[in-house]
Amino acid sequence: MSHHCQTSTSTIAAQHEHKGGFCPVVGDTHAYCPHHKGDSRSPCPALNALANHGYLPRDGKNISVFGLIRALVEGYGLSTTLALLLSIGAVFILGQFRKISLADLARHNLIEHDASLFHRDARKGQEGDITNLAESHWRTLRTSVLKGRYMAH
Ligand code: HEM
Repeated sequence: MSHHCQTSTSTIAAQHEHKGGFCPVVGDTHAYCPHHKGDSRSPCPALNALANHGYLPRDGKNISVFGLIRALVEGYGLSTTLALLLSIGAVFILGQFRKISLADLARHNLIEHDASLFHRDARKGQEGDITNLAESHWRTLRTSVLKGRYMAH
């Protein structure tokens, strides 16, 4: 049975690196391991989850368009056509035809826009803040949902 990585505050998690995109704790499995220092993550929770489960390189770096397509198909069961459209669309919008890192997806006003449910808007001249959860956004959304606003029943 494979090990399951702890949260990023645990000792195991604090000690290891995802060198070369692999996790030395969970090995060649799709078990969950959170990102560690130096890993790259995106504004997209779905793609981050693919990296946390090793469908994308766990360090979130050196991802080819084919790697992205394969991860979407294997991880989420997307059709190859949809995965192809999304992935090729992404590299065209970014203008990056070689390998990408997940953080490249945060280039402001390319794919990333000021429209996140959980992240603050980008500061002038900077990329979107993708690493910090804006707790006030989360509280507003939670209250609205609990009061039945915005949700169709
Ligand atoms: C190649 C495929 C994909 C790319 C390049 C991509 C890229 C992105 C980017 C750049 C954002 C940030 C948007 C912003 O803040 O303006 C985003 C957000 C998001 N993506 Fe993806 N994504 C992909 C696939 C998916 C898939 C398959 C799902 C669902 C399973 C998904 C779910 C989401 C959600 C829910 C958000 C909103 C997060 C928020 O409110 O902060 N994405 N995506």
